[in-house]
Amino acid sequence: MPLHPFLSKTKLYKFLKTICKPFHVVFKYTEFVAFIDENRNKGKINDYYNKSTAYKNRFQLHDKLLEELKNKPIFYYEFGVAGGDMIKKWSLTNKVETSRFVGFDSFEGLPESWENKKEGHFDQKGNFPDINDSRVSFVKGWFQDSVYKALLDSEFNEQCVYHLDADLFSSTLFVLFQIFPKLKTNDILIFDEFSSRDHEFEAFEIFKKCTNNKWQFEFIGAVNNYRQVAFMLK
Ligand SMILES: C[S@@+](CC[C@H](N)C(=O)[O-])C[C@H]1O[C@@H](n2cnc3c(N)ncnc32)[C@H](O)[C@@H]1O
Repeated sequence: MPLHPFLSKTKLYKFLKTICKPFHVVFKYTEFVAFIDENRNKGKINDYYNKSTAYKNRFQLHDKLLEELKNKPIFYYEFGVAGGDMIKKWSLTNKVETSRFVGFDSFEGLPESWENKKEGHFDQKGNFPDINDSRVSFVKGWFQDSVYKALLDSEFNEQCVYHLDADLFSSTLFVLFQIFPKLKTNDILIFDEFSSRDHEFEAFEIFKKCTNNKWQFEFIGAVNNYRQVAFMLK
């Protein structure tokens, strides 16, 4: 449809924008339902449909992954660390000497609001989690300033686990494109808020499209009705 000046001159576009928004929300919802439909009977763990979801259930997904990874050398990269619950869990469970665990975060909280959380939520006042393990390290800063350089100096020759837990669309998409050149077969991607449709799910969909669907994302599992989801690259 040509961009007719009538729409802007009369400000009609503002009206159309308002009345069309609910349709957009429904459309995004149907895209997510299509994902569920595709993966309904897949996965080593999948609690769909679970009437009693709880954030702590995410540990079940990580436990399932760790069953197979706890005795293997891995490089675990976490984007969005906050208090460090998950990087702690991975480093405590995987004791392999050559494994590495790297956590990226501003440690100043979310740069924008997300769902019902305000900008600055998860602020750690700049402090790293206290983890007494020389295999664990942290990169402090906004991803947009820190990730590119840090990844240049990082290692990827073991199976990598990328834990995307920054919640936001902007942060998740940025990180996905940064790790894209490093990805290899059998690497694992975990999304912590996958069912946040305008955020992690949207970032995932755009990333797949913009990378010519180079990777097949083999569904490994999900908990909390696809809130936390893990894939293996094939
Ligand atoms: C949900 S919390 C992480 C929770 C943690 N992985 C856990 O398991 O407990 C999200 C974190 O992402 C960080 N974050 C989001 N966007 C960021 C960005 N662009 N740069 C740096 N940190 C970011 C926030 O500071 C926040 O600490």
